[in-house]
Amino acid sequence: MLCCSCLAAPKLVEQRAAEIRTVLREADDAYYNLGEPIMANEAYDALRSQYQSLKTEYPDLPAYSSVGAAVPEQENPAAHTQPVLSLKKAYSDEGVVEFIEACGADRIYCVEPKIDGLTVVLRYREGRLLQALTRGDGITGSDVTAQVRASGAVPLALTNAPTRLDVRGELYMPFAAFEALNEQRVADGEAELKSPRNTAAGTLRMKDLAAVAKRGLAYAVFEVLESEPMPTTHADALAMAQSCGLTPVAHQLLSGSNAVHAVALMNQRRAELPYPSDGVVIRLNDCAEFERMGATARWPNGALARKYKSVPVETHLRRVDWTTGETGRLTPVAGFDPVTMDGAELKRASLHSLSHLRALDLMIGDRIQVIRAGGAVPEIIGRVPGSRTGDEQPIPDPDENP
Ligand code: IVH
Repeated sequence: MLCCSCLAAPKLVEQRAAEIRTVLREADDAYYNLGEPIMANEAYDALRSQYQSLKTEYPDLPAYSSVGAAVPEQENPAAHTQPVLSLKKAYSDEGVVEFIEACGADRIYCVEPKIDGLTVVLRYREGRLLQALTRGDGITGSDVTAQVRASGAVPLALTNAPTRLDVRGELYMPFAAFEALNEQRVADGEAELKSPRNTAAGTLRMKDLAAVAKRGLAYAVFEVLESEPMPTTHADALAMAQSCGLTPVAHQLLSGSNAVHAVALMNQRRAELPYPSDGVVIRLNDCAEFERMGATARWPNGALARKYKSVPVETHLRRVDWTTGETGRLTPVAGFDPVTMDGAELKRASLHSLSHLRALDLMIGDRIQVIRAGGAVPEIIGRVPGSRTGDEQPIPDPDENP
């Protein structure tokens, strides 16, 4: 008989697991509820997999599930007419090959950039923009009609549109608009904004509509949810949206065997895009085939997001400084041996919070992995496994710092 206590984790492991859960919970809350991620996807995924390894070793540890994350508090809540699903993610070309094998190598696929902004569902009636909703939890979104109307990102009136037209697309901030905004902020003595995605999301929460209009937001349709008649292929749906005056996402039609190569190529060339992109979306072009593949509660089986992962660079952690943020909260900032990434020399990265620092389980002198999250902000995703020499020193507490 298996004795339960054999699976019980030692106190230290339990403590570390609790710390990781705290950070994951904070990250989920920031991402889903506040729309202001506190860490890069890669850093989040690294922590999740560390937790999974601990859980495999000590099955008694509680399972961590972000499904249990607090239900988003929506401003101006409004119900979606159909669930707004997400996409299944693959982090390797093998994942793309598996997806194409499951859907059929002889099928036609539509390949598109995955724009890094936020989903907005637009409802047009008799060619007029009636409503704009964010995704929210997929069932209820926030009504952002006033902000979207003011943004200039979408036409308020369409030409030759069907009486009822609901589309879904990405509202985003092109790099040029983001850079112009930051230049203006610097000139006005304001702090620079860190990411185009967060800025786009934040703009939709602004009450000052004149300021929204100046932000230079853009919108690209990637799905027609309702129209009469419904297009029979995804490419036709995008063409129809375009003929009404909307901008469709860039797309190319390819056979299954060419799609894998095209995705890898788009990955290499993503720096050339004028907007932030965090992956490539591949989907069955034929709507009937797409429907036949079915869906889980979270995503359709006929589409896949091939996500980009930044390649981590290794360096050594040398110090942790403590800074006091606007809210008075102490934030640890890591100092490491300088590394060059995308032409920039990086030597510091925020560790966000004391619990995040503890969850990473770092010591001064550790060999660490650093990425440039979203192509910009440096972030420590963990230490290099098995690299401790025994010479590492504990990180001093904030009050012990000189
Ligand atoms: S298709 C059922 N296509 O990525 C179809 N999504 O991680 C679901 N996104 O919520 C979406 N570019 O906000 C699709 N070309 C694209 C996209 C795209 C960006 C976003 C979208 C979605 C998220 C899923």
